[in-house]
Amino acid sequence: MMSHAEQYDFDTLVSRENTHSVKWDFIPADKDDLLPLWIADMDFVCAQPIIDAMRARVDRRIFGYSMPFTDEYLEAVTGWFRRRANWNIERESIVVAPGIVPALGVLIRALTSEGDGIIIQNPVYYPFSKMIANNGRRLVNNPLINNEGVYTMDFEDLEAKARDPKVTMMLLCNPHNPVGRVWTPEELSTVADICLRNNVLLISDDIHCDLIREDAVYTPVSSLNPSERIITCTSASKTFNLAGLHLSNIVIPDEGMRKLWEAEALGRCGLFGGNAFGIVATQAAYTHGEVWLEQVNRYIADNLRYIGEFVADRLPKARYWYPEGTYFAWIDFREYGYSSEQLEDLMLNRARVALDEGYIFGEEGCGFERINVACPRSILEDCMERMAEALG
Ligand SMILES: Cc1ncc(COP(=O)(O)O)c(C=O)c1O
Repeated sequence: MMSHAEQYDFDTLVSRENTHSVKWDFIPADKDDLLPLWIADMDFVCAQPIIDAMRARVDRRIFGYSMPFTDEYLEAVTGWFRRRANWNIERESIVVAPGIVPALGVLIRALTSEGDGIIIQNPVYYPFSKMIANNGRRLVNNPLINNEGVYTMDFEDLEAKARDPKVTMMLLCNPHNPVGRVWTPEELSTVADICLRNNVLLISDDIHCDLIREDAVYTPVSSLNPSERIITCTSASKTFNLAGLHLSNIVIPDEGMRKLWEAEALGRCGLFGGNAFGIVATQAAYTHGEVWLEQVNRYIADNLRYIGEFVADRLPKARYWYPEGTYFAWIDFREYGYSSEQLEDLMLNRARVALDEGYIFGEEGCGFERINVACPRSILEDCMERMAEALG
């Protein structure tokens, strides 16, 4: 067995076939030779302390209903954010859910009314708009500004939209999927100020917070402004590649809002965040996972740098900005002149790569492709070569 002090091998492709992997086993096309770099999980083996903890749990042999709220679990979660982000989370403010997407659904239903406006910043993780629309709320778009590949926020537009009394919530993505910004304290303070002044509840989805580059600094908006009207969604799932274990920690500082959460999540939906393996894995990850995380972040950064070199050499009409956070390359192919449908067809049927098409993140994403680089370099090289060949 590997000791945790050793160097992890992220270069070797570990087969995920027949593991019920959405990315590999449920690819949305006929999958002969289609290379999957789409849905957001990693093709990397887990940190050894997580595997050890899960094995020990398997050896207990009984897997009944489980609850995460022990001192050890709460210390693991709060300690992680205290050490890494200088953010003090009150233990009693943590509620759990089987994922951040279900948590967003519950928050929207519990804390806004039908017909309310909810702000998002397109191009953004597409379940945000689904959760808003499918729960009978109104989507209010405050699009990001794209300055030659570097995205910033349009605060004037945000202020104008937040001023509408029917707009009651904003979903922020920090770091931002897919554009890769890690928002600065100044940007976050301005967002928080606009929301709080206009009585807009701020929900920050920080699921990508640990997957950042060497010189980027993640700031939880709640650490800058410990308001009762800021809720933060966190999870070890993206950081440690545990998405199939379904556990996320949602920080709701206000007791009244926690009661509303409980009434919706448990009372009306029966939604319970007590996955026995998720609990064990999250606790081990946040207690012993830093060595693995440092290594994985270095590997991802190298992959993202490789894309930069490849685009400069081989895809002269594409535009790419080295992202501050997430494991996505967000590449602008608009200069090639294809429609979204043509670009999708070209990637899927000519290049034979399964990526996330830019248009799914909102119309601001048309002409872009999102590539998940959390894979062995050989897979990424194969993907880029296929794309270059298909684009001619
Ligand atoms: C911004 C963001 N939020 C949430 C999720 C998914 O969260 P979960 O699997 O916990 O529902 C993702 C996954 O890619 C994401 O990028």
